[in-house]
Amino acid sequence: MIKNLLNQIKGLVTYDADREFYAKVFPDSLNQVDLMRFRKMSKADLPRVLEIEAQGYNYPWKEAIFHDCLKAAHYDCWVCEDANDVMVAFCIVSTAVGEATVLNLCIDPVMRKQGLGRKFMQHVIEKASDRKAESVFLEVRPSNTGAIALYESLGFNEVGVRPGYYKAENGEREDAVMMAYTIIQSK
Ligand SMILES: CC(C)(COP(=O)(O)OP(=O)(O)OC[C@H]1O[C@@H](n2cnc3c(N)ncnc32)[C@H](O)[C@@H]1OP(=O)(O)O)[C@@H](O)C(=O)NCCC(=O)NCCS
Repeated sequence: MIKNLLNQIKGLVTYDADREFYAKVFPDSLNQVDLMRFRKMSKADLPRVLEIEAQGYNYPWKEAIFHDCLKAAHYDCWVCEDANDVMVAFCIVSTAVGEATVLNLCIDPVMRKQGLGRKFMQHVIEKASDRKAESVFLEVRPSNTGAIALYESLGFNEVGVRPGYYKAENGEREDAVMMAYTIIQSK
């Protein structure tokens, strides 16, 4: 009963200060992912970003690509931190002419499968909507079935294939599945 009430109150919490209050006063009412916070990435974050990137992909981005993303005016580079201010994920999104494109989403392996990828994508969709984007696009390897399941569960649909888009083992190439999400603007 009290737990239900707390959960309802928790749903209304929007500000970090409130979250910190609940974390201190009712620590059992919040899980780790509830306590995660998003903020913009800075150059100082790159060592940790590169660490997460290296654990996420067989062909990780080089540091120079992240520098370019941080410089590009129409790119939003987000990081996600836990309650102890440890970065556990990042996401890079470009937004132009009503379209947001998710270029990279990567979660620390120890934090995966707890709902953080979903929470991060919901944040990205919300920010894209604030910027008046009408769609969110992304590309994903067909072999990345976990990521595809995440995107489908959020309402993304396959809209095309780019043949041989990604590097693969033994000098082979892998297609990219293109996925899109339509934002319904309420205002
Ligand atoms: C793909 C990735 C972002 C998913 O993040 P995550 O925090 O583990 O995802 P969530 O816990 O929010 O999962 C949400 C849903 O996605 C699906 N999902 C996520 N990972 C999955 C996996 N490994 N296998 C099957 N389904 C998976 C499930 O439907 C899950 O819902 P459920 O928990 O109710 O079953 C993460 O695994 C990652 O960073 N991978 C390495 C980098 C990468 O591949 N990025 C995507 C590039 S396009």
